[in-house]
Parts: sequence; structure tokens; C-alpha cells
Amino acid sequence: MTPQNRNELLPGWAPGSWQSRPAVQQPAYPDAAALEQVLAELSHLPPLVTSWEVNKLRAELAEAQAGRRFVLQGGDCAESFADCESTLIANRLKVLLQMSLVLVHGLRKRVVRIGRFAGQYAKPRSADTETRGGVTLPCYRGDLVNLPEFTAAARAPDPLRLLEGHKRSAMTMNFTRGLIDGGFADLHHPEYWNLDWVQHVPHANEYRERVEAIGASLRFFETLAGQTVSDFNRVEFYTSHEALLLCAEAAQTRRVPRQPGWYNLSTHFPWIGMRTAAVDGAHVEYCRGIRNPIGIKIGPAMSAEWVLQLCEMLDPEREPGRLSLIHRMGAGKIAGHLPGLIDAVRAKGHPVLWLCDPMHGNTQTAGNGLKTRAFSDILSEIEQAFAIHAGCGSRLGGVHLELTGEDVTECLGGARDLNELDLERAYRSAVDPRLNYEQALELALRIVSIKGAAAEG
Ligand code: PEP
Ligand code: CO
Repeated sequence: MTPQNRNELLPGWAPGSWQSRPAVQQPAYPDAAALEQVLAELSHLPPLVTSWEVNKLRAELAEAQAGRRFVLQGGDCAESFADCESTLIANRLKVLLQMSLVLVHGLRKRVVRIGRFAGQYAKPRSADTETRGGVTLPCYRGDLVNLPEFTAAARAPDPLRLLEGHKRSAMTMNFTRGLIDGGFADLHHPEYWNLDWVQHVPHANEYRERVEAIGASLRFFETLAGQTVSDFNRVEFYTSHEALLLCAEAAQTRRVPRQPGWYNLSTHFPWIGMRTAAVDGAHVEYCRGIRNPIGIKIGPAMSAEWVLQLCEMLDPEREPGRLSLIHRMGAGKIAGHLPGLIDAVRAKGHPVLWLCDPMHGNTQTAGNGLKTRAFSDILSEIEQAFAIHAGCGSRLGGVHLELTGEDVTECLGGARDLNELDLERAYRSAVDPRLNYEQALELALRIVSIKGAAAEG
């Protein structure tokens, strides 16, 4: 059986077959008829992505797995409807593109750019309800479902938010595509990047030289070609979000002309979160039947048997590019947990792409109660991930980050050595702490240094 006709023959699978499995993290909509009406509408609205883009990404992820590309996946922990705003979108895109240019130049590989946006509106929660002062209400599950205010009206899941989410995802995609098609001019001129922070780091000279070298390479290229880089190198950008709210994902799962199988056309790259990765659960059942490349978060509590069962369920044909395992262990746990998983997966011949999420295993609570992460832990987990994969004869194919293009103060450390007091100055995340513009760019430069040091050593 070829991977292409697999979906025609998948026994028992349909876009709604997940409903026969335990579905955790789903809201209880009070009005079933209203929900059905919205889902019917959603299933007919124009999709956000196309099947050929999805297929192209799958091929590029296969190249990353083979070591010819590096994946940069990043964006907010959770998008909010209010943040669907032009400056925020442009700044986030800008930092991702700048990071990718650093990585292309430093790693000498093409970079696959995947945003955590245009649909990252639903969040897994630790409890279904929240109690305050004797009052118990449904938990806030992200803007796609309800509102964060603690009132019965705000917390009631509202199906109309699914349509609003689709609309805002479409606006985000449209603006992103427009900016990229327009060339986003200053990207190609590192002299316009904001690099004031560089003076605060011990690697200042190395970083300045690297950024100058990127500028020089681009100018050399442009002189040779007689046109600007943006004219001959159309940047590609893909989107991703956690496939959490299954009724909405299923409503956007379609057949397309002349292509076998089913596609989730709300995003290029859906992933399964750590809390919804049960082998016999609804999320794995839904994802096994779609042609999109699938990511799955792998946490420290997951055994090798569990991971192998997931690989078998989601990629029985061992199709390159199909499955990405996104490990998120934490800097203190990765050395103990990752090697056994790498060996087990390789022994069964699954050609997975390994990505490192150095954010979710490194969350801590600061003295003032704010959720934060230390830049040093994030860097340490990435550094260890490169070394562990190399030591196991495997390859780290990319990173999965929570970041923003804004000057927020949510993660500790980095060039300006943000401390717990600084967190209060510009803490804007409603959920997880993100790297700010400077920390994100610094991380890209550090990744390049880690790889450079490994190549010399
Ligand atoms: C997330 O990516 O925001 C998230 C909730 O991650 P995880 O499923 O790895 O905990
Ligand atoms: Co998060």
C-alpha cells in the first residue's frame, strides 16, 4: 500500500470517528443545535491552506529529517482574538524571519519556517472547572471557546467563537502572505535590525560579525543576480496549531480534487499536545486519518512503549515527513529520558523528525507568582538535545519555541539578564511566558554557535 492510498483504505476512519473514543479537553457546549449549525457553516467556508502546500511541507519535513533542512517553529503559546492586530503580526513574523536568516547563514541549511499562529486559539487546561469564592464555572479554554472573565456568561462555551476564530485566522494568514509577498524589505538589511542588546553579551563581537556577514552575503548575492533577494527567493511560511478542539478540526477536514485522502485545511501542521496523546484517545484517532504532517509532543512521563505505539498509529507506513516528535522534557530531565526514546524509535525504523521544544519542560513560578522560564534553561535543553541526538547517531532537526516580536518581560535572563522584578514591567502573556524579540534573536545566534562549536570539536 502506498502512503497516498492509505487513507482510502484506513479501516474505520472518518473525520468524525474520533467521537467513538475518549475525548479529553473538549468543552461542553450548552446548545448542541447551535454548535451543529456553526460546524456546518465552518465546513463550507474557504479553507485557510491548500493541500499542495500541505504536501510541500511534508516533503520539506522529510528533508529536515534527512539533515538537509532545519525547522524553526514558533509563535505565541495562545493567540488571542485581541492580538489579531497588524503590528503584533508583523513584528512576530519579522523576528521569525530574522531568526531564520541567522540559522540559514550559520547552519548552511535551508530553514523550514512554521508559525504557531493563525489558529492557535484553543488551550488544554489542568482542570475542566474553576472554583472561586464557592462558585464553580467551566475553565477558560482559549478564545476559540469562551472568555477568561470569571462570570457564567463569559465562561459558557459559545460556538459562534469558532467562526470568529476562523475569520481571525484568515486575516492573520492574509496579512502574513501579503507581507511575505511584498518582500518585507528591511529583513534583507541586517543594518536595520534592532541589535542594541548585543552590547550586553559576552559574545558581542561574534554576533556583530555574524550579522554583518549575513548582510555582506546578501549584498554579494544581489550584485551577482542584479535583483533583490526578495525578488528571486520567495520566502515560504507555514502555519501550525495544536489540534485540540476536535469538532472544529473535523469540520475543516476535507477531500480535495485529484488527491487521495483527507486534509485538515485549517493549518499545514497540526500537532497533538502532551495532555491529549493517549494512544486510544480521540486526538490520535482523528490525526491518524489526515494527510497533513503531524507533530506530537513527547513529555518526560511518556515511556518508549507509548511513543512506539503512537508512531505505529500515526505512521504505520514509515513515511518520511509524516511524523515529527517534539520532545519537551526540561533541561534537568532530557538527559535521562531522551536517549532511550531515540534508540527505541530507531530500532523500529520510524523515520521521524525530532524537534526540541525547550519551553514547556522549563516552566517555573517566580517569587511574585508569575509563570516564567529561564533563558539559560531553554538554551541548556537545546544544547543537550543537539549533543544527545548526535551521541545516539540521530539528528535534532529543529526547534519549537514560544516567542513574540515585542519587548515583553516574561522569560528570565538573556542578554539584558532580566530578573524577577523585571517580569512585572511588561508581562503580557495570558498563558505561557514567551521569549521577547531580543531573547529570540539571541537564541538563534546561540544555536548557530552551539552547532559551530560542535563542528569544530
Ligand atoms: C503548548 O505547546 O502550548 C503546550 C500546551 O504544550 P504541551 O502539550 O507540550 O504541554
Ligand atoms: Co504553551
